[in-house]
Amino acid sequence: MKQSIEIVAKKRNPTSRHLILIIQMMTWDQKFEVGHDRIDAEHRIFFGLIVDFKEAQLAGAPKDKLLRILNEISKYAEFHFVSEENIMIDFGYIELEEHQKLHQQLLAEVLDKYYEFKHDMIHADGIFDFIFLWFALHTSREDKKLADCIKLDQAQIGN
Ligand SMILES: [Fe+2]
Repeated sequence: MKQSIEIVAKKRNPTSRHLILIIQMMTWDQKFEVGHDRIDAEHRIFFGLIVDFKEAQLAGAPKDKLLRILNEISKYAEFHFVSEENIMIDFGYIELEEHQKLHQQLLAEVLDKYYEFKHDMIHADGIFDFIFLWFALHTSREDKKLADCIKLDQAQIGN
């Protein structure tokens, strides 16, 4: 995947610094791992879709293609959030409501971005930056907090 990113990015001829930044952003980072098998597996798919969006953009894909990927991101996020919330309910997570609110906000914002992009009110760069940043911050903070609580609980049960 990394090689194809470099090829499409070079075709668009961004500066080498910009290119390095794009490649870094599109590479799975250990900091996204929360330490829960199911959540991590879904996060890798979620991240893969965000990368698909950027790759398609850099390759000069038509807007229709980018909108289809954005729709896929939105649908996958919806599924993933339900999946994560079910884990929280089963566990009895104390911050369920706050976490659920963050998920709902993101879904609403992605729909807004979809509309804005469709009607040329926002550039594809803005979509990518927004979703990437949300993913990076939410996983490394909120989802990590949840996974740590589950791990701590399991460790206490084990003792
Ligand atoms: Fe989450």
